[in-house]
Amino acid sequence: MQPIEIKKDIFWVGIVDFDHRDFHGYSRCPDGTTCNAYLIRDKKNVLVDTVQPGWANAMLCRIGNVIDPEKIDYIICNHMELDHQGVLEEIIERVKPEKIFVSQMGLKSMAGYYAGKNWPVQAVKSGDSLDIGSRRIIFQETRMLHWPDSMVSYIPEDKLLISNDIFGQNIASSMRFTDEYDDQWEFEHRIKEYFYNIVLPYSAIALKALPVVESLDIDMIAPDHGLIHRGHKACKFIIDMYRKMAEQKPQKRALIFYDSMWKSTEKMAYSVCRGLEENGVPCRIMSVKSNHHSAVMTELADCGAVLAGSPTHNNGIMPLVAAQLCYMAGLKPQNRVGGAFGSCGWSGESPKILQDRLAEMNMEMPAAPVKCLWAPTHEVYKACRGLGEAVAIALKKKCGE
Ligand code: FEO
Repeated sequence: MQPIEIKKDIFWVGIVDFDHRDFHGYSRCPDGTTCNAYLIRDKKNVLVDTVQPGWANAMLCRIGNVIDPEKIDYIICNHMELDHQGVLEEIIERVKPEKIFVSQMGLKSMAGYYAGKNWPVQAVKSGDSLDIGSRRIIFQETRMLHWPDSMVSYIPEDKLLISNDIFGQNIASSMRFTDEYDDQWEFEHRIKEYFYNIVLPYSAIALKALPVVESLDIDMIAPDHGLIHRGHKACKFIIDMYRKMAEQKPQKRALIFYDSMWKSTEKMAYSVCRGLEENGVPCRIMSVKSNHHSAVMTELADCGAVLAGSPTHNNGIMPLVAAQLCYMAGLKPQNRVGGAFGSCGWSGESPKILQDRLAEMNMEMPAAPVKCLWAPTHEVYKACRGLGEAVAIALKKKCGE
């Protein structure tokens, strides 16, 4: 249970949960997660954030390798979601801090989760600073990135931004820094996964916050999940990546997600894919039976086009496709081209339902939905390829080709 000194007298004291898979009850983290917490040793000792439920002792052991936990004077809660404050009660009972700092909105969340506690809580707002001896901690509220209570803590003397959820990734590893991690694709994929499943609806807010981050003199960004971005180059990389994801400029790739009963819709999916590829748009096909809805959403990070396929089932669409659409709509992707298709035996409502659902997400729908009765015929395959072609043409135009 060794802590890691990330700056002089600032220690990572978080936890690594290699077996965690269900992130917040709605998103998958296929390779586990990390809840980061930071201990600052100074005239006043400060703990910034805690960890998820069940891990208080692991964190206290790490802290105990630096100082006696009872010597912590202040606790800062940058965000009240329980992956960061799920052990707060246990920690407060052990530490008995002089003060606990939360944002103005954090007061409400804290009262909701920990009603009736007579804790020494003080609300802070953007620009407030806390003098702890040889350094100051400056607070910046980041409302709706991604909760109303979210804030970050900036330590100018150490050029360190403790950024809470922002810039985080679900990576479970013994490595603590991005420059130690040797799998760049995996790292970027986990960044996309986190952003596209959690931060995406707040893209416009993120775009306003990024210049504020860039105006700070920083050489380290320490998020509350995953690897720490160490050095100017790493900080710039993650800020640029966030800007690109938040801008949602169209990218020349397509995603097809579908479900199928007797493989007619599946065959249509592969034919639509052929139409896209023949027209210069690479495509990824994802069965919603084989892929979790958060994995499908992550794939959207690289795709300017989204096509949905479902057989008609009880005058509607297949339940897993409905779930995927519901999840996707809530995350509010912008600036996409869409397409819909599906098979049926008789009533055949599904293609139109899919078309309408994607259009409700403000997607450009360049072609009518394609319907197949029973099994695909030559004409159906031709129509599917035509759908792929129409989407490819619309997407390439959107990309400026
Ligand atoms: Fe990592 Fe919003 O909690």
